[in-house]
Amino acid sequence: MGTGLILGIESSCDETAAAIVREGRDVLSNVVTTQMQMHALYGGVVPELASREHLRNIVPVVREALRQANVQPEDLDGIAVTAGPGLAGALLVGISFAKAYAFAQDKPLIAVNHLEGHIHAVLMHSRQQAEAASELAQQTLALVVSGGHTHLYLASQQDGAWRYRNVGRTVDDAAGEAYDKVAKLLGLGYPGGPWIDRLSLHGNPKAVLFRFTEINRGTAEAPTFDFSFSGIKTAILRYTETHAMQPDIAQRRAALATIANPTLDDVRSLCNDETLHLIASFQHAVVGNLLRQTFAAADHFGVTEIVVSGGVAANRELRQRFEAEAAQRGLRVSFPPPALSTDNAAMIAAAAWPRFLHGEFATASLNATPQLRLG
Ligand code: KG4
Ligand code: ZN
Repeated sequence: MGTGLILGIESSCDETAAAIVREGRDVLSNVVTTQMQMHALYGGVVPELASREHLRNIVPVVREALRQANVQPEDLDGIAVTAGPGLAGALLVGISFAKAYAFAQDKPLIAVNHLEGHIHAVLMHSRQQAEAASELAQQTLALVVSGGHTHLYLASQQDGAWRYRNVGRTVDDAAGEAYDKVAKLLGLGYPGGPWIDRLSLHGNPKAVLFRFTEINRGTAEAPTFDFSFSGIKTAILRYTETHAMQPDIAQRRAALATIANPTLDDVRSLCNDETLHLIASFQHAVVGNLLRQTFAAADHFGVTEIVVSGGVAANRELRQRFEAEAAQRGLRVSFPPPALSTDNAAMIAAAAWPRFLHGEFATASLNATPQLRLG
C-alpha cells in the first residue's frame, strides 16, 4: 500500500519549485523561490542566469518541501518533474536532480508537461471539492494563458487517465508576453501583467478601440480557436508615436529606475490620464479576445466546464468577465487559487498522480524537451 505522496519538481523558467502532494489533491507543501527580481534588472528572463540560480536553489527547495510536509524521502511514492516546455538549461537542472533522486531513493520517475501542470492546478481544486470522481465533468475546456503560452485544450478523462487535444493557440506572442512587452514600451516595470492589471482600474477601457485579426488554422469541420497578440503590441507602439507620448514614457522609465520597490501609487502618479486610458483599453481588448475565442470554442464543443490557468489567469478583469459570461451561459468557470496560478511544483505533482496510477513512468534517459507539446 503506497502513501500517495508525490514530490513535484519544477524549473522550466525562472522559478525553482518543489512540492509534496497527496493523491493529486492535498498540498502538504508548496515551496517556490522566484528569480523575478534578478531578471527584472534585465527586463526579462536571462537563460544563463536562470540555470545558475536553479542549480543554487534546487537542493534547499526540495529539502524545505520535505521539511514543511513532514515527510521522509522513503515515504514518497514517486518523483515528478517538468520535462518541458521551457528553457533547456533550466529544465535540465530539475530533470537531472529528479533522476538522481529517484535513482538514489529507488522511486519511480514521472515526466510531466508544464502545460498539463497548469491545467491540473485548477483540476486539483475541483478534486478537493467533489465528493466523488463521478461529479467531475468528463470533458473540460482549458485555457492556459501565461508569459510563454496561450493555448486552448479539450481535456477529457477516461478511466482516470487524462487526454488532451489542442484546439487553439497563439500564432505569435503569448498574452502574458504582450502584457510584458506593452508594459516595457510604456516604461512600466517587469513583469508587466500585475502593473497593467492594477493601473487599468484607473483608465477608461473604451477610450481606444483595438481590433484583432481573425485567425483560424482549422477547417469548417474542425475549426481552431486561435490567438494573435503581436498586432496589438505594434498598435500600442504606433499610438504612443502618433500621440507624442515618448518624452513622457522616457521620463517615467527614468523615474521608476530610481525607486527600489515602487508601489502602485508611485507608478500611478507617473502616468497621465492618456496613458491610463491606453493601458485600460489594451487590457480590455486582450481580455475580450481571450473571452471571445474561449467561449466560441466552448460553444462549438458543447463543454460545460472551463478552467483558466497560467500567470495571466490572475488578472482581475479576466476573472470578472469570464465569470459573468459563464454565468450568463450557464457554464462553470474555475481558476486556480493564487498560490497555484503562477509556476509552482504542486501542479506538477498533481498532474503526475493519474500517470503514477497508470504506471506511466519515465526512464533514466529522460531529457529536457524545450518545445514539448501537449495534445
Ligand atoms: O505562468 P507564469 O508565472 O509563467 C510562465 O509560464 O510564463 O506567467 C507569467 C506571466 C507574465 O507574462 C506576467 O506578466 C503575467 O503572467 N501576469 C499577469 C498578471 N500576473 C502575472 N498578466 C495579467 N494580469 C495579471 N494580474
Ligand atoms: Zn507556466
